[in-house]
Amino acid sequence: MSPNVSSNLDKTALMQAARAAAGQAHAPYSQFRVGAALLFADGVVVTGANVENASYGLSLCAETVAVAKAMSEGRRGGLVAVAVHGPDADEISPCGRCRQVLTELAGLDGSDPLVLGAGTGDVREWRLSALLPDAFGPDAIAS
Ligand code: THU
Repeated sequence: MSPNVSSNLDKTALMQAARAAAGQAHAPYSQFRVGAALLFADGVVVTGANVENASYGLSLCAETVAVAKAMSEGRRGGLVAVAVHGPDADEISPCGRCRQVLTELAGLDGSDPLVLGAGTGDVREWRLSALLPDAFGPDAIAS
């Protein structure tokens, strides 16, 4: 697989998958829905939505749900791109915890996925490494 696979990425379709996922959000406490869509190098898209809890601190972000779904299905790399959609905001980017969770998956094969974030406004783009520079990772534990 070309390392440049993201050039073939259908960003609109991936964001549409995130938008659809946001429709499954369980966000009765914040009223802030989020959807995430992870694109893998084999073309598979795994989605997630935020799942809140009456014990607020137990709530799960959309990106974290998507990563947990993907990894629990056996995925250990190949993450090409991530789209995050927040229909209740002008703009959105992944929270700090989700950046770390995404970095764990991406780090398994040394990939640096494209991250797309959009609310009701324009889509913004980053590399994951730019959203979480000098990330904590397994190397720190091993040293
Ligand atoms: N949320 C996400 O799902 N992803 C993020 O990156 C930011 C925040 C959720 C958590 C909570 O359910 C709601 O948005 C408000 O913070």
